Amino acid sequence: MKILVTGGAGFIGSNFIHYWLAKYPADSIVNLDLLTYAGHLSSLSDIENDPRYSFIQGDITDAVTVEKAITGVDLIVHFAAESHVDRSILDPLVFVRTNVLGTQILLEAARKHSVRFHHVGTDEVFGALPLESDLKFTESTPYDPRSPYSASKAASDHLVRAYFHTFGLPITITNCSNNFGPFQDPEKFISRMITNLLTGQKVKVYGDGKYVRDWLFVEDHCRAIDEVVHRGQVGETYLVGGLTEDFNNLEITRKVLQIMGKDDSEIEFVTDRPGHDRRYAVDWSKIQRELGWEPTKDFDACLKATVDWYQAHEDWWKPLKAQSEAIYK
Ligand SMILES: NC(=O)c1ccc[n+]([C@@H]2O[C@H](COP(=O)([O-])OP(=O)(O)OC[C@H]3O[C@@H](n4cnc5c(N)ncnc54)[C@H](O)[C@@H]3O)[C@@H](O)[C@H]2O)c1
Repeated sequence: MKILVTGGAGFIGSNFIHYWLAKYPADSIVNLDLLTYAGHLSSLSDIENDPRYSFIQGDITDAVTVEKAITGVDLIVHFAAESHVDRSILDPLVFVRTNVLGTQILLEAARKHSVRFHHVGTDEVFGALPLESDLKFTESTPYDPRSPYSASKAASDHLVRAYFHTFGLPITITNCSNNFGPFQDPEKFISRMITNLLTGQKVKVYGDGKYVRDWLFVEDHCRAIDEVVHRGQVGETYLVGGLTEDFNNLEITRKVLQIMGKDDSEIEFVTDRPGHDRRYAVDWSKIQRELGWEPTKDFDACLKATVDWYQAHEDWWKPLKAQSEAIYK
């Protein structure tokens, strides 16, 4: 199989490429990535000369580039997006451009060439859940996005589904919770926390820290996409999540502090951001029931593996840290 991965130089895309080439040695991957601030070829330096891998620097909103990239492709796995909520508050337009228009251009190319399309979505399209409740997002939860990021991702999900219903394009969608793991830009919650501690800085926690997120180890996410691509039902959406909805951000922070041998004195509470969703939790029973997927049970082990990775890969994240700090000053 030849796969076009969009956004393969980003966090999840680069993990996915590593995962896939290791698991399916006979497959090849074309990585189409614009290399925005979030794209790092250093995440793929170990495979840059692998004959099964090729890279095209280009914009998914550019139909000519997409047309070149799609040649001979059997499957598109679409990760490319503007993905940072804080940045979407500063500059919403680029989110609409990449996430909505870019997805449409890819869908159109997939339709023309009859290529199977897998779309990587987010659980943020469902909005937030009340803090004191057992409710979880399911595949039938109504969309209720709260930020320009999640609104643009919601629009892209709708377009993907529309191409299935209108044109019969073979699509699947996964909507997943917050990922963490190797190769995550040091501006995100867990990676920023780890790299702050590794550089002698405090960790920042928004508001009272009682936000609840469902954390998904990135390798579990790659495995979920693998299952859906191979055995998922065309036209269907699958929610993918982790096992951490019982922990709020402050508790996750304390777990990282403990792994790194630090205490609460390293925590700095910072002013909340506008529209900050209170709680997300994902019901992943559909993908478990239909495809047998479930997340790794030991969250602490995944967190420890992530800390170990950042400790061992300063050369990867140090050059990115100063750049990401500018936005949080
Ligand atoms: N990270 C998470 O926790 C999370 C959770 C749920 C869903 N998702 C979704 O997963 C996907 C990947 O997320 P990520 O965290 O790896 O994102 P990321 O920001 O780390 O990477 C995005 C990649 O897309 C590329 N890109 C951006 N605009 C582009 C364009 N116009 N053309 C081509 N490439 C472009 C960037 O250069 C970058 O390499 C996104 O669609 C995101 O919405 C992420």
